[in-house]
Amino acid sequence: MPFVGFSGSTTFQFAAHINLRFGCGVAATLASELEALGVRRPCLLIDPGVRQGGIGAPILQALESRGMASSVFSDIEPNPSDTTVHRAFELSKADGCDVLVGIGGGSAMDTAKGVGVLMSNGGSIADYDGINKVAKDLPPVVVIPTTAGTGSEVTANAALTRSADHYKMSLRSPRLLPRLALLDPLLLRTLPRSVAATSGLDALTHAIEGYLSVRASPLSDVFALSAMAHLAPHIRAFVANPENVEAASSMLMGSMLAGLVISNTGTGNDHALARALGGLCGVAHGVATALLLPQVMRFNAAARPERYVDIARSIGLSTAGTPRETAARVVDEISQLLQDLEVPRRLREVGVVEDQIPALVEVALKNVGPNPRRTCAADLDRILRAVL
Ligand SMILES: [Fe+2]
Repeated sequence: MPFVGFSGSTTFQFAAHINLRFGCGVAATLASELEALGVRRPCLLIDPGVRQGGIGAPILQALESRGMASSVFSDIEPNPSDTTVHRAFELSKADGCDVLVGIGGGSAMDTAKGVGVLMSNGGSIADYDGINKVAKDLPPVVVIPTTAGTGSEVTANAALTRSADHYKMSLRSPRLLPRLALLDPLLLRTLPRSVAATSGLDALTHAIEGYLSVRASPLSDVFALSAMAHLAPHIRAFVANPENVEAASSMLMGSMLAGLVISNTGTGNDHALARALGGLCGVAHGVATALLLPQVMRFNAAARPERYVDIARSIGLSTAGTPRETAARVVDEISQLLQDLEVPRRLREVGVVEDQIPALVEVALKNVGPNPRRTCAADLDRILRAVL
């Protein structure tokens, strides 16, 4: 039986706006959904790899066949920068767009959210870094995830990089919640193996960090445990073959559930360090979160060992022995998962050098808020050196 007791905060807040269509082929309903929204000209923010893979073409054709001209912006990099958001905004403004459609992983969806912020609020996107800085409602933002990872389709967050100092901003406002999400497992079928692995592990990291967060609540726990149960048993099959519809559906469902979790619980040391690695060293988000997960979980096990027993149950591991022993088993399984999925397990493999550690620690320390175990600079330093 999964954990069902009341735990975590005795007072809590949980906000969600879920308006989604899920299933094979739902991406084709975009045109009719846009018509229902009463919009005239969409700006499509499409991940360049997704566009090259041909995923965007049928969607564009469906729009054209309905007589709906659209603008397309595809120059979106991993960890998208403020300048990218501003360039996409200039295009959408010049073309008179009234709805933003993000098609891709978190980068494309968060760029769409950023453009929406500028369309209704003006100024510089860096002005909106932080909590509740967005004063006016956005034009409709519709998202179509093509990875099972970020969960951005249901989160009130956008992660964007400030190019002046490579700081990874985190815009957080209920106004960033997409109006509609189309979750189509068939869109995952062309994912490169490495992206399928790292984005899927990022989703699993969301579920785990959210479940361990000091801001976890009985409501977020329901979604977190379900997310883990959707993700962990299917990730190996999905990475081996993203055309496996059952595995892809489970991954897409799990990553969405995990997005609902972190939108409310925040994330811990793993994401604090991953954001610093993304901003300062350009490490792709999913690579960073996956690489850090075993070591961060090892560090946090002492704080909430009973929660590791629940995690073990959710991902199908034995809970025999003490909670500490079960926690060690969970960490071993996550390490094995990284090995099986052939993702980087050392910072050196992704170009990070020892000299960068102090700067990474300094940036990450500002974002460790909801981590279950109190964390100081020396702790983060030790975690990074352990995975160097
Ligand atoms: Fe993440």
